[in-house]
Amino acid sequence: MCGIIGAVSDSNVLPILLDGLKRLEYRGYDSSGFAIIVEPGKFIRLRAPGKLIELERTVNANGNIDGFTGIAHTRWATHGPPTEQNAHPHISGGRIALVCNGIVENHEELRSWLIDQGIQFQSETDTEVIVNLIQLHMERGLDFLSAIRTSIQTLKGAFALGIVNADEPGRIIGARRGSPLIVGIGENSAYLASDIAALIAQTRKFIVLENGDIVDIKQEEIQITNLDGHVLNRDMQFSDMNPQSVELGNRRHYMEKEIFEQGQAVSDTLEGRITTSRVLDECFGIEARQIFDKTERIQIIACGTSYHAGLVARYWLEDVGMPCQVEIASEFIYRNHPTPKNCLVVTLSQSGETIDTLTALDYAKQCGYSHSLAICNVPDSSLVRNSELVFMTHAGPEIGVASTKAFVTQLVALRLLTIVMARKNSLHNLNETESIRELRELPASIEATLNLEPAIQKIAQQFADKQHALFLARGIHFPIALEGALKLKEISYVHAEAYAAGELKHGPLALVDRNMPVVSVAPNDAQIDKLKSNIEEVRARGGKLIVFADSETRLSSRENLQVIHVASVESTISPIVFTIPLQLLAYHVALIKGTDIDKPRNLAKSVTVE
Ligand code: G6P
Repeated sequence: MCGIIGAVSDSNVLPILLDGLKRLEYRGYDSSGFAIIVEPGKFIRLRAPGKLIELERTVNANGNIDGFTGIAHTRWATHGPPTEQNAHPHISGGRIALVCNGIVENHEELRSWLIDQGIQFQSETDTEVIVNLIQLHMERGLDFLSAIRTSIQTLKGAFALGIVNADEPGRIIGARRGSPLIVGIGENSAYLASDIAALIAQTRKFIVLENGDIVDIKQEEIQITNLDGHVLNRDMQFSDMNPQSVELGNRRHYMEKEIFEQGQAVSDTLEGRITTSRVLDECFGIEARQIFDKTERIQIIACGTSYHAGLVARYWLEDVGMPCQVEIASEFIYRNHPTPKNCLVVTLSQSGETIDTLTALDYAKQCGYSHSLAICNVPDSSLVRNSELVFMTHAGPEIGVASTKAFVTQLVALRLLTIVMARKNSLHNLNETESIRELRELPASIEATLNLEPAIQKIAQQFADKQHALFLARGIHFPIALEGALKLKEISYVHAEAYAAGELKHGPLALVDRNMPVVSVAPNDAQIDKLKSNIEEVRARGGKLIVFADSETRLSSRENLQVIHVASVESTISPIVFTIPLQLLAYHVALIKGTDIDKPRNLAKSVTVE
């Protein structure tokens, strides 16, 4: 995964590169670095292990750096530990510098071949083979661009590259195969980056590169060709992203900001998609009605938090008579799928760039699945471009690695899909007007639930010295327990497991003692009596319970049982509302523990490696 950025300009590119890296840090933060051409034939390359702040310290210690052409990188380590030596850019022959997002799968074979040609390697990365290949081809007579084309032809894997040649200031070459890459067009300047947000402070004009594109960027001219050298036309687009939407404002962390933006994110996602009595099918694409009419089954594919949204949707869709399967993208590709006919593949992804989800979608197409719908938060992402139907969640940019508002808006999208699918089956009598009313009331219920923060803050203290936690729920709230446990693991490093409460007696009950906090999601639904029995089973064994219930659950706090009352809502949308306190709990535990909430160790927001 990793983020890359490059700039050619008539002013110093250093501040542009550093600002872009800041916006790309969500893609990885194990190390960062840049190479700037300070005079023809000469680079200054600085790299630093750790977060971007370390690179900024190195810059301050190195005095004035000024140049009009440069590339930069923020790394999520795959091959080789996060040391300075393994940080990008990698350089060969003192004149070619390269940054890469992705993996070169045949790097071992290429490395051996290059060593046989007398090349000495400086790092353990797979990326270094690319820069050495380019340099070798140039030594053997090819020009810069031809050497890049020839080198790429020998690479296996998915990647995006940014490359500069110290002898050719004012020029950057980029290449895309699999990993995202966009070109930004400014006044007397041009850029290359992994995403639009990285460049939003510089320009609003972009070209999204396609797989196989090679872009030759000069200040005044941008040319896109394919591997064979044929010139390609790509449309320029205008981004309406608000630069402030990626600013932290007065919040401590992006995660906190994003948790509190959820009411607005839901309103924005509903806007223009519903009337008082009808969900507009067109919000899934112009051909949606025709495709939905033929749909007999749904296969949901996603990773991480997005997968949990899919698990909730299965309950909703099956309730209206639509058979539905949900699978983790990285596992979907290891099975045969014998009956894909009339089955709609629904992919869920905040970023639209998760490689496992993209690969699974490709595989579904190969298996003969009829149609595809992407529910995604990033316009122009690979997933959006590879899908027939698209529903854009309007959560706005999500920067915190732990997904919050993207999850809640995915659930809203899936609820809209359920309402549309319910029309196919009149036996299942879902009242569309009523369902829309519930969704319209959701932002207010989310705001009310956010007011529980002070109570949750107190409860979070009880987790600060704990190593483990158990999350219990039944039915449609089980995926919410999974999501709550994932949030706690991700950002506070407390080992948390979610169990379907009925499974408690088959193993996890053995773990329960006073040191194991047990969190339960307990709205007053059809499963509540059984869940109450499970809660008592935990109490009887000395376990300490924290129960999120609604006022109708009729549970009150007593010894070893703390009850937090969440706003009462219709049972269909209660999974969305019960998500909020679990996000707040994870956030406050992490805050007490002092972890790096927005950039938890070893993780990245957008996972573009398999
Ligand atoms: C990473 C992120 C998670 C996210 C998952 C899937 O693991 O840290 O927050 O849920 O990827 O990402 P996607 O962009 O496909 O939803």
